[in-house]
Parts: sequence; structure tokens; C-alpha cells
Amino acid sequence: MSDKFIINPTGPLRGDVYISGAKNAVLPVLAATLLTGQDCVVQNVPRLSDVESMCGLLASLGAGTQWDAASGSLIVRAGGLNLCEAAYEWVGKLRASFLVIGPMLARLGRAKVPLPGGCAIGSRPVDLHLKGLAALGADIDHTHGYISVSAKKLTGAKIYLDFPSVGATESIMMAASLAEGQTIMENCAVEPEIVDLANFLNAAGADIRGAGTDTVKINGTRELRGVDHTVIPDRIEAGTFMVAAALTRGDIHLTNVMADHLKPVTAKLKEVNIHVTETETGLRVYHDPSQEVIAADIKTLPYPGFPTDMQSLFMSLMATAQGTSIITETVFENRFMQVGELKRMGADIKIESRSAVIEGVRRLAGAQVQASDLRAGAGLMLAALTAEGTTELSGTEHIDRGYCALETQLNQLGADIKRVIA
Ligand code: EPZ
Repeated sequence: MSDKFIINPTGPLRGDVYISGAKNAVLPVLAATLLTGQDCVVQNVPRLSDVESMCGLLASLGAGTQWDAASGSLIVRAGGLNLCEAAYEWVGKLRASFLVIGPMLARLGRAKVPLPGGCAIGSRPVDLHLKGLAALGADIDHTHGYISVSAKKLTGAKIYLDFPSVGATESIMMAASLAEGQTIMENCAVEPEIVDLANFLNAAGADIRGAGTDTVKINGTRELRGVDHTVIPDRIEAGTFMVAAALTRGDIHLTNVMADHLKPVTAKLKEVNIHVTETETGLRVYHDPSQEVIAADIKTLPYPGFPTDMQSLFMSLMATAQGTSIITETVFENRFMQVGELKRMGADIKIESRSAVIEGVRRLAGAQVQASDLRAGAGLMLAALTAEGTTELSGTEHIDRGYCALETQLNQLGADIKRVIA
């Protein structure tokens, strides 16, 4: 029996919500602290289980971490880095642990990291990470489920990424920061989290230009210094609350957001008749009762396309929209795990290859459902907010990986969600 959320429907959610620092920005930044022997302070760090796992990994490598509860910042003392092997337990808990391979290689000349397994949403290969490290001069060995990399020195290279992989772009950017000479990365990812990582590295003395575009130039430097860095807000957490306002036909004001990072989500919400307006301190998302929420098609794409991490959230919204919507998932090969659970709640969804065809129904019905991964779980929680009757959502650990007490924040906006410890 796992912990679960008991969710009862209430009316429209209304009020203010403060968005935390971005999980997918803080994880690569924490890995990047290993590139310097000096202390780093990372601010606006969300208290997530994924962050706790990354801190555990850093500590296991000799890089101590210390929370400053008052300011919500994290101090990383990477000077203590004395181990070049990451234990399986950490990579098993957190796939993003693999991001330490580039910094350890660059700082110590070698690294041994378990090959991350797949997860619910796909096989999650790391071939593009390794192709980039090899181009920089690393020897790569894969035995017994571990990837070992070594290099007497790293030398800048021209690297073309077959796919604009976020993680591979981050791995190569971190390793190239301490390589000799210039690295040019082409067809790389342009997500805001890449820009945040480049800002962290440049503040530490790196020379990275073009982050946020598909061509990034990195002139390697001999060493990096400690920095004090504030992580960008979490655009997916923000998108989650934007969809919560839309789905419950409510009115929510989000603060600590960067509107530019949310353009694809804002555009799609406006397309389905939800109002999104910029305020002096953030974004207001609300529904005009005189308008129906209508169906719209979605195709997930690398940034600045519609984010794959928002796909399940939007599917929950389309489940009771007026009309038929088609959601096509182009980034991960198995990211419709929430469909079966939504159908148990009465949704009318058919999967055809990489697309889901959704016929909006008047209202969903509460049911016992299971979260399979972080965003699928969040999508089911939102769907339950307006379903008729009680919903029991199991798999709270998935949601806790990416949200700081999502149920508490939704309850403060008028929801009725109880966490039951098994
Ligand atoms: C990051 O994962 C995010 N995680 C994911 O968020 C996000 O969904 C994803 O980027 C896409 O935006 C973190 O930042 C910690 P990718 P990442 O490498 O880096 C293929 C969440 O819910 N690929 O851009 O793993 C891969 O199979 C998580 O917060 C290769 O083929 O994403 C996938 O189909 C889920 N070879 C596609 O690229 C590689 O070497 C996108 O993967 C690497 C990736």
C-alpha cells in the first residue's frame, strides 16, 4: 500500500501562488558545482526529493552540501570532491544524477557513473552525452552497467547533436568549460534551463556564448571559481497552476514567474478560451464564465515548442473541453501512461501511434488511479479537482519529485486534497 492523495471536487480555484525555483535548472547547476574547488551558493532551490537525492550524491562524492533554511539556499563545498565513482543507488533514484559525469571528468580526469535505466516515459538513452564527451577526447568504457570515462586532458571540438537533447547539451557544456581550446556545439537544446546553466558557469569564470540558441561556443578555461547563483523559476510548476486555473474555471495569480518562458503554454491556453494577462508581479490566469473551454491540438516539441512536461497536464484539461483534440508526443516514446488512468475516470481517449485523440466529455468521475511518473501524476491530480466524487491517487512519491507539497498549494487556492500515509 503506498501513500495516496484523497481528492474531492470543489469549485473554481482562486488566489495567489508563488512559484519555486526550477527543478530542471537546479539539478544541472548542482552537478556543475563539481567543476570548481570553491564553495558555491545556490539560491531559490526547491525542497524536492530529486534535489535531496542530488545532494546525497554530491555528499557521497565528497562535496558537502548544507541547506540554509532561512534563505532557502544551498551551499555546496565541492572542494571536498574525492571520489570519481557515483554509487548505483543515486542514479537509480534520480536519472539526472548522470549529469555529474561531465564535471567529474573535467575536474578529475575520470569518472565512473551507472548507466541510468529507462523510466516510465521512455528508454532515456545517453548516447548523445557520450558522443559529446568522446569528441572532447574522453575514452569511454561500458561494462557491468557502468559508464567509465577518462581523459588526460579534454580538447575543444566541433560537435553536432543529432537531437537537441537537454541533458546532452548540459553534459557537453560543463565538460567543455574546462577543456583546452574552443568547443562549438550545434543543434543543441535552447531551453531556459540551458541558459541558466550557462549563466552559472560564466559567473564562475567560464566563457560560454550563444546559450539559448542552437549554436553555443565555449572557450575552455583552466579553472572555475565558486559563485552565488539564483535559479530561474520553474516554468512547468507555473504551467501546472495555469492549467489548474483553466481546468477548475478559476482565477489564479502566479508570482515569481518569467512570462517569456511560458509563451507556448500561454498561447495554447488562450487558444482554448482561457485568459492570461501579465500583471506587475506575475501572471493572472482566469476563465470567463461566458465562454466554453474548447478543444485544441498539441504537438510537443523541444523549446520553444509546447513542452513535453506539460503534455499530461493539458490532456487533463482537454478531457472535459468542448470538442475533439489531438495531442501528439514527439519527444518521448512512451509518455501517455496517464491515458489509461484518465479513462478509468471516464475520459474518452484513443491512442493512435504517437497521438492521443481526446473527445471532451461533460465531466469526469472520481476513481482510484495510480501515478506512473511525475507529470502524469500531476495531471491526474488536476483532473480529480473537478471530477464527480472522490478520487484516490496513489504514487505520491512521483509527485513529490517535482513539486514542493503540490496538495498544500492547491488547498490554499480552494482545493480539497488530503495526503494519507499508508
Ligand atoms: C530533461 O530530460 C528534463 N529533465 C525532462 O524533464 C524533460 O522532459 C526533457 O529534458 C525534455 O525537455 C531534467 O532536466 C532533469 P532530453 P532529458 O535529453 O535531458 C532522447 C520532468 O518531468 N535522447 O532532451 O533526459 C531521449 O530519449 C523531466 O521534469 C537520446 O536519444 O531530456 C528523448 O527521446 C521528465 N540520446 C529526447 O532525446 C541522449 O543521449 C529528449 O531527451 C539523450 C536524449
